[in-house]
Amino acid sequence: MALPQSNVPADREVLPSNVKPLKYSLTLDPNFETFKFGGNVKIDLAVKEESDFITLNSVDIEIHSAKVGDSVAKNISFDEEKQTVTFKFDEKFAEGTTITVDVDFTGILNDNMAGFYRSSYEENGKTKYLATTQMEPTDCRRAFPSFDEPSLKAEFDVTLVSDEHLTALSNMDVKEVTKLENGRKATTFNTTPLMSTYLVAFIVGDLRYVESDKFRIPVRVYATPGLEQQGQFAADLTAKTLDFFEKKFGIQYPLPKIDNVAIADFSAGAMENWGLITYRVVDLLFDEKTSNLVTKQRVAEVVQHELAHQWFGNLVTMDWWEGLWLNEGFATWMSWFSCNEFYPDWKVWEQYVTDSLQQALALDALRSSHPIEVPVKKADEINQIFDAISYAKGSSLLKMISRWLGEDVFIKGVSNYLKKHKYGNTQTSDLWEALSEASGKNVVEVMDVWTKKMGFPVITVTEDSANNKIHVKQNRYLTTGDVKPEEDEVIYPVFLGLKTDKGTDESIVLNTREKSLTLDGGLGFYKLNADSAGIYRTSYPAERWIQLGKDGSEGKLSVEDRAGLVADAGALATAGYQSTDNLLNLVNGWKQETSFVVWDEIITRVSAIKAAWIFEDKATRDALTKFIHSLVAEKANKLGWEFSATDSFQDQRLKSLLFGSAASAKDTKVEQFSKEAFAKYIAGDKDAIHPNLRASIFGVVARTGGATEYEQLFNIYSNPVSPDEKITALRTLGRFEDEALIQRTLGYLFDGTVRSQDIYIPMQGLRTHRAGIEALWTWIQVNWDEVTKRLPPGLSMLGSVVAIGTSGFTSDAKIQEIKKFFENKSTKGFNQSLAQSFDTIKSKASWVARDNQSLNKWLKENGFN
Ligand code: BES
Ligand code: ZN
Repeated sequence: MALPQSNVPADREVLPSNVKPLKYSLTLDPNFETFKFGGNVKIDLAVKEESDFITLNSVDIEIHSAKVGDSVAKNISFDEEKQTVTFKFDEKFAEGTTITVDVDFTGILNDNMAGFYRSSYEENGKTKYLATTQMEPTDCRRAFPSFDEPSLKAEFDVTLVSDEHLTALSNMDVKEVTKLENGRKATTFNTTPLMSTYLVAFIVGDLRYVESDKFRIPVRVYATPGLEQQGQFAADLTAKTLDFFEKKFGIQYPLPKIDNVAIADFSAGAMENWGLITYRVVDLLFDEKTSNLVTKQRVAEVVQHELAHQWFGNLVTMDWWEGLWLNEGFATWMSWFSCNEFYPDWKVWEQYVTDSLQQALALDALRSSHPIEVPVKKADEINQIFDAISYAKGSSLLKMISRWLGEDVFIKGVSNYLKKHKYGNTQTSDLWEALSEASGKNVVEVMDVWTKKMGFPVITVTEDSANNKIHVKQNRYLTTGDVKPEEDEVIYPVFLGLKTDKGTDESIVLNTREKSLTLDGGLGFYKLNADSAGIYRTSYPAERWIQLGKDGSEGKLSVEDRAGLVADAGALATAGYQSTDNLLNLVNGWKQETSFVVWDEIITRVSAIKAAWIFEDKATRDALTKFIHSLVAEKANKLGWEFSATDSFQDQRLKSLLFGSAASAKDTKVEQFSKEAFAKYIAGDKDAIHPNLRASIFGVVARTGGATEYEQLFNIYSNPVSPDEKITALRTLGRFEDEALIQRTLGYLFDGTVRSQDIYIPMQGLRTHRAGIEALWTWIQVNWDEVTKRLPPGLSMLGSVVAIGTSGFTSDAKIQEIKKFFENKSTKGFNQSLAQSFDTIKSKASWVARDNQSLNKWLKENGFN
């Protein structure tokens, strides 16, 4: 149920409630020469209170006139801060009547990837444009004056005016096409169902498509000419997934068609506009021959995520952005759920532990995190909550619940929730209600803390083996390891998931600070957080880590358990709850590990040590590299790096992962192979580099090469075989450590070589080495004005750039320096990212100060230093 207006928090920036939109009739005419668009919108409004004004959202729109019937608004005033326009009339509109406000306007077909914007691409050496939209969260107001809040649902009639040879798309199917003068046409679409403004979409451009006929309505994938064939994988998956979700939820996808469109300039990864989903090119198009497995999985994830939104978000919408997790948490969980259905051999739920779960725990371990349900008031705050809390912690919470209730009961409850609220708006409590009804359990009581409070606990285990007892105690967990008593007051309901030789006991809930448990079979084998299904970390006594290491080798632990243990050992070391030795000993004993997921976490956690020690002395860093080499090289060489048609998904992922780790650990065989393969590739043998090895081989080339290799990679970037090769080459350019080459990379960020949507990608390369970290930060300071101009605070990209550009540092002195730089600047739109960056740096600084000696001692004792 939507919040009654009187209950809306006073400081939330919302529109006055005197009128409510019912239906929009919108006509837009984008001009590719002036980069402007003419527009007219007629909005039917229900008058809720007698009044003589209409206030709606509008940004960067020139309003020519506004009228209601014959009455023309005499006074049109803008509030830039609130992003609204108010039309004042001479007459009063009577309560209970319906009026139509008719507005003529001109907007800007901008190049900021927000609102109604232009995207460019090359065709036969010529630059061409298409016009497309990105409304979420608060940029519909840039495309047309609108009541731009998620709970103000209305119907939309859209008409697009364009050249007759161009394709015009919107949320709905075409109702009619009218021929206009001068080779132009007007395309009118059928009326949408009730929907939120942030889901409205329209596109005009020269587009081609492929389709799938495996679903009861047309399913298409559109791209600019020449790329459309790479859309078949997504088209087929879309058809299957819609069918799957329809059956699971018991609700038909309600629109008469669905389109997926690849857009060359796109700020996010994809956007779930109802019936017209838009994507970054790399997140939609996929070619089996030239792209790699990781790309395939990413495309599958993104497509299924956006399709899940067609129900979660589009059909049933959060009533305000505070409930964003109801959209993003569900779409995230559902994408894994659906992926597991179609690609069981990928074992995605194993990967979940090192992917979403770790993202959630990493961000939520910062003091600058926020609760899943977080009060947000205005545009620049709303943008910042599209983060790992809404997505990954949200979905991890759903994972926890589904395990608690059982998947079938969970899906039943979720289906009831969707049915009850379709075409409406909800709050989190509506979900709890439906789940309680379906399960007969008190879901609110358990879950409220998890959505309303930030953070999560670390469970400290102590043992009393003489009495077959373990004692568990929960405390708030922070990466900086400096929890103050007043930050440690929340008691989280924790599912302990106790694994012993007898099986798993899922029933034990820790809803107090501490608890003692008796293990009937003794303390020989036990582990908490079975299959890493819970949102917490577990800290065992030092000897238990050694025992768990053995248990893992003996097959007593699942992949999820093993990956979770490595992650916990790593995180606890970073934060100072445990010594780094525990992590090193654990992974040192797991060289025989067979799962790429566990290997991935091992390499991530040891690389985290390298990243924290990046500004420390060379001897330590070299010893760490040697250590990693000792972990991976033998296995990498044994498995080899040939891929055959009979290799399973798991085999392929493991081979490419170990190859990559051996490459960064400077294994001579791997290096030599990489250089040779690259040389052949450059000479024209396009089969010389398997797509699964591409990033690693490029990495070796950047680390060992110079200007010549840079040039070669730059040519690949300019003329790639696939969208993902282009991105990989771009990231690799940032990995060159030579000062002149670093400057060359930085020079490309704003000279038109790199699209604004991609500027963070070479930055990710730069962030991997000392000289790059320093140079990037200097560059950001020097170019700050331009950075903010190109990435306006409305876009979440500014936050990413600030985070990537600062979080590579490892000292308190740098925190001060960065603080000083931003001291007299507005941090609107990225204040959260900046605070998170400080927490990250601080935690690395403390880690090094705390464990530098013991780390060196361990490396020495184990023969690496
Ligand atoms: N609703 C988002 C797109 C979005 C993100 C809009 C940020 C406004 C601000 C979309 O459903 C989404 O979550 N996309 C993800 C991909 C997904 C697979 C996690 C993205 O863009 O990265
Ligand atoms: Zn989403």
